[in-house]
Amino acid sequence: VILIVTPNPAIDVTYRVAEQRIGETERVLDVARYPGGKGLNVGRVLVAAGIASRAVLPLGGSSGQWIADALDALGLGHSDVRVTGETRTTVTVVDDRAHPTMLAEPGPAVTAAEWSAVSSTVDRALDRGDVDALVIAGSLPRGADPAVVAHWVASSRAHHVPCVVDCSGPALLAAADAGATVCKPNRSELLAATGADDERQGALRLLDRGAAAVVVSRGPDGIAAHTVDGVVEVPAIAGVSGNPTGAGDAATAGLLAALIRRPGWAAGPAGALDVDAAALRSAAAYGAAAVLSPVAGDIDLAAVERFLAHPDVPQHHDHRTGSTA
Ligand SMILES: Nc1ncnc2c1ncn2[C@@H]1O[C@H](COP(=O)(O)OP(=O)(O)OP(=O)(O)O)[C@@H](O)[C@H]1O
Ligand SMILES: [Mg+2]
Repeated sequence: VILIVTPNPAIDVTYRVAEQRIGETERVLDVARYPGGKGLNVGRVLVAAGIASRAVLPLGGSSGQWIADALDALGLGHSDVRVTGETRTTVTVVDDRAHPTMLAEPGPAVTAAEWSAVSSTVDRALDRGDVDALVIAGSLPRGADPAVVAHWVASSRAHHVPCVVDCSGPALLAAADAGATVCKPNRSELLAATGADDERQGALRLLDRGAAAVVVSRGPDGIAAHTVDGVVEVPAIAGVSGNPTGAGDAATAGLLAALIRRPGWAAGPAGALDVDAAALRSAAAYGAAAVLSPVAGDIDLAAVERFLAHPDVPQHHDHRTGSTA
């Protein structure tokens, strides 16, 4: 099973309007509500791909309960840690002009005791011995200590379970320091977190700190895996347009989908992952399929298969943006 920590889950609300106008009252044409936060987007894609996954997340208040119920309905298993602060809501306003506006609440204050409860939940799940990989994805709520991420990474290492971390800023650096198997920022997150001027330099900084590999997603420019030995890169699927929000989360799911299906994975990869071109192609195919979907965390598996079979055939699709982080 893939264990996924989402430190700052959210009810993702998407409002579609005819045309966004600042300072005006808008009639909402459609509303969609999904359990979100990057980790839950990864989990929803993994479930769609038929890969057993379990979410660990702090949840508070009636919004937290709403997310728990929605995860049940989606068939994504979850171990909730009840917290006193109310789980946040993020609002995305979209129209047909490809300029979504996102309002992202910072998330509730989570106490040190509540973080220890999250960490114990992660540790207990790892102790069961059936975790194939740990994913840590998304922002930390305001005021959270990035050391919590380091703790989860260290715990996965102690259990010889590889971990993939898609966090930003100090949390990304903390994950690298703790020896994350894969850090997966997009390029601008990598440069912002490391202060580097170019991608290779930024990746080397995370590798120097202790990450075993750094997978950098480049939006329409594809995806690359950096190790101390060099770079492997694959282009993006050509001609795809739509809503790129959540493409990185789908790419993370696609990377794992390729890796855990390899023979020998169950025997235990001892914390190392061979992020080769085939794994990156899977990530790029999932990322592109997510672009085609108006809602983050939704994915058309038939599109993934098509992209893997014919990566060079340009795609033409209706263009309609939607949703969320
Ligand atoms: N316009 C696009 N066309 C084709 N493929 C794309 C496009 N945008 C993204 N992808 C694929 O999805 C992958 C992940 O996208 P991106 O780098 O935008 O992630 P991200 O910025 O982390 O997104 P998010 O955090 O919102 O999920 C890319 O590496 C690429 O392979
Ligand atoms: Mg991302």
